[in-house]
Amino acid sequence: MKEKREEWAKKLWEKAREGWTARTDDLKYRANVSRPALKEEISKIESEKGVCIIEFGCGDGTETLELANYLNEKNITGEIIAYDPQSQLLEKTKNENKKIGKIQIRFETGDFEKFKEQITPSDILFSIYVLNDVADAQEYLLQTKELLKKGGKAIFQFVHPAFVEAMIKKKVAKLESSLSDIQTMTVQYPILEKQNYFYLPVFNRKEQTYKSLLEEIGFEIESIKELIPLQNSHSRKEVPIFYTSQKNIYFPEMNQIPSTMQITAHKK
Ligand SMILES: C[S@@+](CC[C@H](N)C(=O)[O-])C[C@H]1O[C@@H](n2cnc3c(N)ncnc32)[C@H](O)[C@@H]1O
Repeated sequence: MKEKREEWAKKLWEKAREGWTARTDDLKYRANVSRPALKEEISKIESEKGVCIIEFGCGDGTETLELANYLNEKNITGEIIAYDPQSQLLEKTKNENKKIGKIQIRFETGDFEKFKEQITPSDILFSIYVLNDVADAQEYLLQTKELLKKGGKAIFQFVHPAFVEAMIKKKVAKLESSLSDIQTMTVQYPILEKQNYFYLPVFNRKEQTYKSLLEEIGFEIESIKELIPLQNSHSRKEVPIFYTSQKNIYFPEMNQIPSTMQITAHKK
């Protein structure tokens, strides 16, 4: 079943890559809603010796570069090692190793086991919209644990289960009945983009499942935040237009419910 789910997600991503790397309006959501919450967590880092941060599932590297710029503005020295199994996303955005101020960025792709051998466990790891993209969350969290030192902190952001439920109600998410052991669905990317719309795989789990998995695996949860666009943005103009271009429906009320969940936890 796990292999079947992974294969299905891989096929959807092959079709989605073009749209994903051409996103523009989604970046407004990131800038106003998810990125400030991540930066707030990262700003708590003690940085006298220089930081080493791992991004586990960096996609096309957009958030990696944003975070590197932020650390640079704060005059922090260090390294971000960003890994994603899909090398094609990085090829499309032409993101490769580079230095931004005093922050060295290293992108890695390919087999996880090989990646793991090349790195030293880190104090900080972040994971943005990956937990809802992995067919096997337990395996992903076990790997996360391997990438961290004892006491190391992980910050996970992922699509809020309540938002997924709302998308199902709006009929923007199509449940995959053949993959029914966890709530698995094809979801039209809900933010209106100038480019064509595209579909992503979503493996939705209950809020409690994420918490229990983390605790069973050996993490201690420090905080949980629910990000609601209308609470997190400064003005209505900054909130995204949640929309399905296929049916020409516009959902402003989606800005009033939590769309991202952020869990910060450390390895015990
Ligand atoms: C929705 S994208 C988010 C990408 C990026 N973090 C961002 O926010 O722009 C999900 C990413 O998770 C990656 N991914 C899927 N399975 C993974 C795994 N087992 N380990 C690490 N990354 C994975 C995918 O390749 C994809 O790039």
